[in-house]
Amino acid sequence: MKVSVIGAGHVGLVAGACLAEIGHDVLCVDNDPRKLEALAAGRTPFFEPHLEELLTRNIAAGRLHWSASIAEGAEHADVLFLCVGTPPLPDGEADMSAVEAVARQIAVAARSPKLLVEKSTVPVQTGERLEKTLAVYGAAESEVASNPEFLAEGTAVVDFLFPSRIVIGVESEWAEGLLREVYEPIVQRAFSWRPSDVEVDTEGQAPLIAANRNTAEIIKHASNSFLSTKISYINMVSRLCDAVGADVRLVAAGMGLDARIGPKFLQAGIGFGGFCFPKDLQSFIRMAEKNGCDFSLLREIERINAGQVDRFVQTLRDELWILKGKRIAAWGLAFKPHTDDMRFSPAVSVIQRLQAEGARVVAYDPQAADEAAREAPGIELADSAEAAADRAEALLILTDWPQFRQVDLAAVKARMVRPLLLDGRNLLDPESMSALGFEYHGVGRGRRTAMRLAPAV
Ligand code: UDX
Repeated sequence: MKVSVIGAGHVGLVAGACLAEIGHDVLCVDNDPRKLEALAAGRTPFFEPHLEELLTRNIAAGRLHWSASIAEGAEHADVLFLCVGTPPLPDGEADMSAVEAVARQIAVAARSPKLLVEKSTVPVQTGERLEKTLAVYGAAESEVASNPEFLAEGTAVVDFLFPSRIVIGVESEWAEGLLREVYEPIVQRAFSWRPSDVEVDTEGQAPLIAANRNTAEIIKHASNSFLSTKISYINMVSRLCDAVGADVRLVAAGMGLDARIGPKFLQAGIGFGGFCFPKDLQSFIRMAEKNGCDFSLLREIERINAGQVDRFVQTLRDELWILKGKRIAAWGLAFKPHTDDMRFSPAVSVIQRLQAEGARVVAYDPQAADEAAREAPGIELADSAEAAADRAEALLILTDWPQFRQVDLAAVKARMVRPLLLDGRNLLDPESMSALGFEYHGVGRGRRTAMRLAPAV
């Protein structure tokens, strides 16, 4: 099939590359010519496992093309995926101006009925508004469908090709038929690519849910808000664990074995960040308010999340007393491992708070150094985890990169002025760290007696 993808950001590029990989003829449209030039040469503007491989192969196979013109996108295909940004406005509501502008341009350019497919995360009822926009600007025969994206950064390609579910929100059989056809190879697992680094489910069919458009739009926001809720819930439990001397990792393990709860998204730490959870949560709250529902539960989720950074900084203050002039090592800048994305990263919040109090923070991140040099030039960077810890009075773990576990921590300790270790992601084992001579503080790891009494999980 011929498909167009409007917006070559994280969602659009992954969607474009994956749709080409399963055999479609894809035109990716973006208004940034420099980005298009790099992409045509097979270079991705951000780090995402497997993406470069897919881009290179599908460009070479002639299934992936680039354009700066939305009109060309409308000419190329009848199915157009909308993947432009919906950043938060100051009041938390999503800024829909880019989405609306694209719809207008498509309407003007369309010479046959088009199916506009929202992949950007949008407030409920956006589909209705977009359809009106299409009609006003001359494409009354065109339709809008919702097809929310559930891909997480760092696993986006695998999430797209081996999805937990495909959700399509449609208002006609025509739209449903087109979207089923687009996704048929993924549903039937009828493509040959398999990731080398993770196991994927290749049995049976990938689940596809067809619903009306408003339902599909809500599925996306309700899913992300629920995951955020799980994280804030366990973070609140971690505070209680700290207070009474219990171990939140074991509490989470004990809860997670109940299949109704599940073990995922129960890792306590300095909280969630990234470009999705914080903004989607705000947008869902505002959307609920506008429709007469006071979703105060979600405001509490936000408050708890912000509090995790406050508590972490306070623990450091309690230990060091004065932060001004002290050298502090920070391991991790990205909002989570396996990405270089630092948007709304709790790691960056912690570092900036310490800098504001006069501390000299030296950071190391295995992936985000280039991004940090561009986006956060005020953060001093080291070339290695060890170098960051040189003469430090404290070492902070802010992103749970698995490679931090492989660092020789005895050698790190020898470089530090004081062996104070604040593990904001509960990455390391408190007992081993104490055995090495570190003053170890995790998040909700309680006192050591609790650890000794606890069963091994
Ligand atoms: C998320 C959703 O998972 C994805 O389905 C959606 O489409 C986009 O938003 P992403 O933002 O890439 O994906 O990251 P995710 O892996 O969900 O992590 C979000 C944040 O939560 C990170 O800062 C992570 O460190 C934090 N987190 C996650 C926790 O603090 N504890 C956990 O147990 C899990």
